[in-house]
Amino acid sequence: MEELGLSVDALDKELRALLQKDINFDSGTILGSMCTRPHNLAIDIFTRYIEKNIGDPGLVSSTVELEKEVIAMLSSLLSLKNGFGYVVTGGTEANILALWTARKIAKSSSSIKEVIVPDSAHFSFDKAGDLLGLRIKRIPLTSTLQVDLEKVKKAITPRTIALVGVAGTTSLGIVDPIKELSDIALVHNLYLHIDAAFGGYVLPFFKDLGFPSPQFSFRLKGISSVTIDPHKMGMAVIPSGCILYRTEDLARKVSPTVSYLSGGENAHATIVGTRSGASVLAVWSLLKHLGKAGYRTIIRRCMEITFALAEEIKSIEDVELVIDPVINVLGITSRVFSIIDIAHKLREKDWAIALFPNHIRIVIMPHVYPEHIAHFIDDLKKVLDELREQKK
Ligand SMILES: Cc1ncc(COP(=O)(O)O)c(C=O)c1O
Repeated sequence: MEELGLSVDALDKELRALLQKDINFDSGTILGSMCTRPHNLAIDIFTRYIEKNIGDPGLVSSTVELEKEVIAMLSSLLSLKNGFGYVVTGGTEANILALWTARKIAKSSSSIKEVIVPDSAHFSFDKAGDLLGLRIKRIPLTSTLQVDLEKVKKAITPRTIALVGVAGTTSLGIVDPIKELSDIALVHNLYLHIDAAFGGYVLPFFKDLGFPSPQFSFRLKGISSVTIDPHKMGMAVIPSGCILYRTEDLARKVSPTVSYLSGGENAHATIVGTRSGASVLAVWSLLKHLGKAGYRTIIRRCMEITFALAEEIKSIEDVELVIDPVINVLGITSRVFSIIDIAHKLREKDWAIALFPNHIRIVIMPHVYPEHIAHFIDDLKKVLDELREQKK
């Protein structure tokens, strides 16, 4: 740190220059992210209320009420009348909270406690396992890339404390057989957490849009908690995640009481202490402003582009889809060329795509337009031509 500070103008100039390598969502080149440019309303509300710390709830009791409304609106989207929960920093925090809660209520007396997750589960479950001293058992997938239910059943032991299902996997947007997982959880009296960080803002709109609509909501009685992230398809600002619990009791399992807060004694049920009240208000505003109809329009547009891209990929020689897209996440693979070579060449052409071991992931977020896809397809064809040339 220098002795004398910079003027605002000088600082602005320096910062702009220093940030040149960052890619913005409006560049049209980000096809691999599960985040998007937040809705303008969310940006406006977030900046207006930026000082609010909901980690000191007594200071912002009105914001606390609106957080309850957010939880009620998202719970009802997932068919739960009186849901409980919190706006958190994202899917990782929500998933860790869910497993923390499961550990708190675990009946297993074994010193080793296990959580059964699909092999496709997000790496936040490995973080949770490490932090909470839980053994994360990853279960192989079937040919439909959903968790293998027979293997789930076989993996259950007296050490098992929870099951996890994913509604919209990170790599391909697949939805696990949640109804069956719910049945297994009820039979074995296990905590079932559903990670719908991405799919939670997509799948509830599918029925009205006429798309196949896999079950994953709280209507399934075995589900204890759900992760749903407003900062992904909810178009909210970063950070905005959400954990929803079926009961108030579950929502309070990890809440130590804090006595020193300026707003008075309060219970803290999230991992972070200081928490953005502005995020809560931005999520609330978007839910109120867009309503179901607004979100449905956004999802329809993303799905139309996804289906169009899927058809394009099918028509291109030497690449193929890993599986037909279920939601607005699409995997491209190749039997002819290394997917790493294809990804590197696309990245050289400035495409921000996500690379998984056997495929490139494209996520059709609200910032993606048909012209971006047309440009991407042109570049993909060029990349394949270059690789064919190199092979000669
Ligand atoms: C299914 C799923 N769960 C959890 C997460 C973690 O979310 P975050 O990055 O907001 O912590 C992701 C991130 O992409 C995800 O795809």
